[in-house]
Amino acid sequence: MWLVLLLGLAAAKHAAPVAGGRDPNVGVEDARWAIVHDPLSGCSCKKAAPEGHVLCFDHVSCTRFPSNVTVRTYFGEAVLQVRATSIARLSVGDLRLLQHLTELAVDNSRAMVRVEPGAFRGMSLLLNLSLSFLPRLRHLEPGALEGLTALRELYLMRNGFLRLGDVTPALAVRTLPSLVVLNLDDNALRAVEAPDFRPMAGTSLEVLSLAECDLGALHPEGLAPLHRLADLNLNDNHLDAGQLAAALDHLGALGVALQKLDLGSMALSLRLRPALRPTSAFNTSGTFGLTAGPDPQSGVTTEDSPSWISTSATTEATEESQSQILDDPTPPTTSQTRPWDQPDGPFHQLLQSIARSEVKELVLHGNEVARLHNGTLPRMPGLQRLDLSHVDLTEGLPGGLSADVVPDLEQLDLGGNRLPGLWPGFLSDRLLVLNMTASAAPYFNLASSAFRNMSRLRSLDLSYNRVFRLTNVTFAGLGSLQVLTLRNSSLFRLDDGLFLPMERLERLDLSGNPFPLYHSLRAELFQGLGGLRVLLLAGCSMRSLAPDAFRHLSSLQQLDLQDNNLLTLDGSSAFRPLRALERLDVSRNRIGPWRSALFDNNEHLREVRVAGNRLTYLTAAMLQEAEGVDLLDLADNTFHCGCDLYQPASARLLTSDTGVVTLTSKLGRYKCLSPDRWWNRTIDEFLQWATAHSACGPVDAAAPLWWVGLLLGLLFLLLLGSAAVTYRLRHHLRYYLDTIAGRRRDSARELAAHANFQYDAFVSYSNEDQAFVHLMVTTLENEAPHFRLCVYERDFTVGAAITEAVLSSVASSRRVVLVVSPAFARSHWCAWEAHIAHHQRLLAEDALLVVRLGAVQDALLTPTLRYLLNTRIYLEWCDTAPADRQRVFWRKLRAALAPPVGSLGLLPVQ
Ligand SMILES: *[C@@H]1O[C@H](CO)[C@@H](O)[C@H](O)[C@H]1NC(C)=O
Ligand SMILES: *[C@@H]1O[C@H](CO)[C@@H](O)[C@H](O)[C@H]1NC(C)=O
Ligand SMILES: *[C@@H]1O[C@H](CO)[C@@H](O)[C@H](O)[C@H]1NC(C)=O
Ligand SMILES: *[C@@H]1O[C@H](CO)[C@@H](O)[C@H](O)[C@H]1NC(C)=O
Ligand SMILES: *[C@@H]1O[C@H](CO)[C@@H](O)[C@H](O)[C@H]1NC(C)=O
Ligand SMILES: *[C@@H]1O[C@H](CO)[C@@H](O)[C@H](O)[C@H]1NC(C)=O
Ligand SMILES: *[C@@H]1O[C@H](CO)[C@@H](O)[C@H](O)[C@H]1NC(C)=O
Ligand SMILES: *[C@@H]1O[C@H](CO)[C@@H](O)[C@H](O)[C@H]1NC(C)=O
Repeated sequence: MWLVLLLGLAAAKHAAPVAGGRDPNVGVEDARWAIVHDPLSGCSCKKAAPEGHVLCFDHVSCTRFPSNVTVRTYFGEAVLQVRATSIARLSVGDLRLLQHLTELAVDNSRAMVRVEPGAFRGMSLLLNLSLSFLPRLRHLEPGALEGLTALRELYLMRNGFLRLGDVTPALAVRTLPSLVVLNLDDNALRAVEAPDFRPMAGTSLEVLSLAECDLGALHPEGLAPLHRLADLNLNDNHLDAGQLAAALDHLGALGVALQKLDLGSMALSLRLRPALRPTSAFNTSGTFGLTAGPDPQSGVTTEDSPSWISTSATTEATEESQSQILDDPTPPTTSQTRPWDQPDGPFHQLLQSIARSEVKELVLHGNEVARLHNGTLPRMPGLQRLDLSHVDLTEGLPGGLSADVVPDLEQLDLGGNRLPGLWPGFLSDRLLVLNMTASAAPYFNLASSAFRNMSRLRSLDLSYNRVFRLTNVTFAGLGSLQVLTLRNSSLFRLDDGLFLPMERLERLDLSGNPFPLYHSLRAELFQGLGGLRVLLLAGCSMRSLAPDAFRHLSSLQQLDLQDNNLLTLDGSSAFRPLRALERLDVSRNRIGPWRSALFDNNEHLREVRVAGNRLTYLTAAMLQEAEGVDLLDLADNTFHCGCDLYQPASARLLTSDTGVVTLTSKLGRYKCLSPDRWWNRTIDEFLQWATAHSACGPVDAAAPLWWVGLLLGLLFLLLLGSAAVTYRLRHHLRYYLDTIAGRRRDSARELAAHANFQYDAFVSYSNEDQAFVHLMVTTLENEAPHFRLCVYERDFTVGAAITEAVLSSVASSRRVVLVVSPAFARSHWCAWEAHIAHHQRLLAEDALLVVRLGAVQDALLTPTLRYLLNTRIYLEWCDTAPADRQRVFWRKLRAALAPPVGSLGLLPVQ
């Protein structure tokens, strides 16, 4: 019956497109916001429900300040942002009704030329003001900010200011007595002259940001009036080190206690004085100090990547090469300062000035510090955080950043350099946080005791290095480590017991490493991680999960297995030991529906993500699990909205109190991929429709006695089946029985059944692929073992209605071969054929065979085709492939078309 019904549906679909139930497209954005037009100013204003936060905008019509907009004070805050407008000036009186504001931003107006003195009069509650992105605002008049007595933060970024002297007179201490933060980033100021900050003498300013101001000059006394300056950001200017040193020394002499200094991307270069080299050493020839030459000790060149280096390298040769490298843990040198190590020049003086200051946090990101040896840096007591990322560092030798040099250092960023590894003694053993990501070196050597004395380290990030292998001694000494990040570190091999030294580890990120490809995940690897809470194994090329892989992880709360190649979870007991598990993510694998309960031991489980897998229907086990968790994400699966999906779902609806809620609220919204009629419509819609139309036969309604109903129903169906159904569906019912009983050899009936197929396969193809089909037919029919194929032009009875002819041919063919090519995908007729074949053979999945000719663009695929390509194994034919590859193709095709074992194959047709 269902076949007839589905065919009917298919026909209906072709007759008229089905209207989908669509939500009314109202208030979609965010119901809490309302947009009001203010006719006085021409602005549109967006208000949150309590109106404590209002955003006014309109690039075209908002030409005056929205002075009559209502902003309420909500929990002590009243925020107005006027952005992307064409307001030309801020006038006296504009803010007369807004004197209660605590935060105001008038940003991004190309027209703004003036802030009238007195415009802010009476704004004594304003704490935070931004007048930014106003390219035509060239200066602030002395009285422009008058009245802002409470103002703490002032943002004047990316305006048209060309000289500090055009702004600072407006920032005098009597105007802004409470000012703490001043941000002038991205104004083309060019220089800080001695008198520039004098109008601000006595200011309470603590934080000054002058990033990207094109500064080329800094007068030694330029910053002197800012006597409380604690945080100075000069990132991305081109000041020279000598000027900076002089200015810092001057501040120091005045007793200014600068705490934080950002000198990032300043083109500073720490040069090492070229000294005579011992003749016994390697050749110097000019490049020394800037590029890494071959290191005589480790014998590895850092310049040229050996050809075996490749993140996707998967050969054994790769592993051998790695072992060779990894078996050489010799540090580059342990010698004392070498004679050519002496640093020199203005950058060194600058570092000495910083060392004398009270700076605790120093950013040197993006400058150049090619090598760090014992003696390169001055001793810098007091320094707690140091950013040395992207400084082109190629060598770090013992004493370079050791506790003698930076005794108080807690956080260090060495990311984006070219360090070939880490050796003992280079870094301070008092570090708490170390970031050494993304070294450009062709491999990253973690010598066996690199972390031996780092017993205080809490967080270590070694991502995006080419580490290749970690042994059971690599991490010895890291007894306090809580967070270990090793994303995309080309890890091919992890030794058992590797994590044993890390008793306190809470978070381990191993994402993007191919190690499970070589040695599937073993429980022994995770020994000692009884305290681990988060384990990330996304993108690790995992194909399966050993039953006890996570045996040691009794505290694990979050497990991430996204983007692997897991094929099934059915019967897996991998999750059973994870008693504390709360969140599991297996999105974007290739998992199909599972029938066994997976999570009955994980009582804390709240969230399971299975998006982007190959789920075609929902099993009772999945439905039951959905009820136990807050979230079961099944988006982007390949749901086939047919009776396989309907039966368990509706049974569950009937037997469970919570089932209805779960299904509609949690699962009902996911989309069907096929059949075409239900494509992009929700499972919920389908279930409702199927229920209303009894499309999948009766589902027993008497919940407590469901099994009685089931038995009766079965008996009834059996009786009915032997009569009516047998007749109507005689061909494929017989086929179905065959596939079930196919392996039993002694059945004469079976032989008869096979014999009754007129063809071995029905071929569905596009006319444009005739050449291939012709080749296929001649090859299969003329060479032993002989097959008989049903091909449109040749075998269709003249005069029969085309659909009937197709139907009966499909019914009298053992299998259906789809020749999928771009032309096939474009042809509607073929799509329809595929559709029929697909439904008719739902009972026996291997009845359908896909042969692919060339690449078919995703955009061309109908949902049914997409579903088939996703879920069926297909053979690929390539015209230009070598003869032996083509022979393999034919052999596989013959194997796939061969009748089930035990039958005699085709009998002559009369
Ligand atoms: C300002 O808004 C109030 C209501 O919020 C309105 O009564 C008043 O007329 C407006 N003023 C002007 C000048 O439109
Ligand atoms: C003040 O405003 C600026 C920019 O509008 C914002 O970045 C900053 O976080 C605000 N400060 C506070 C304390 O809200
Ligand atoms: C160093 O290299 C240069 C050119 O690369 C060569 O001319 C010179 O002889 C070499 N010196 C020594 C001591 O090897
Ligand atoms: C660094 O050099 C000094 C003398 O120049 C020496 O006393 C100290 O031990 C060296 N430190 C290391 C770690 O080699
Ligand atoms: C590690 O500490 C031990 C003793 O605390 C010391 O002997 C050894 O030199 C240290 N190693 C390094 C590389 O600092
Ligand atoms: C290390 O630095 C990179 C790049 O700046 C950053 O993305 C990463 O979050 C840092 N790691 C940690 C643990 O903070
Ligand atoms: C590390 O593994 C080796 C064998 O590969 C073994 O002999 C050694 O005892 C292990 N060390 C530790 C600390 O487990
Ligand atoms: C699928 O349906 C959603 C609404 O449910 C719609 O926004 C989207 O455009 C549809 N996709 C296609 C490709 O039709």
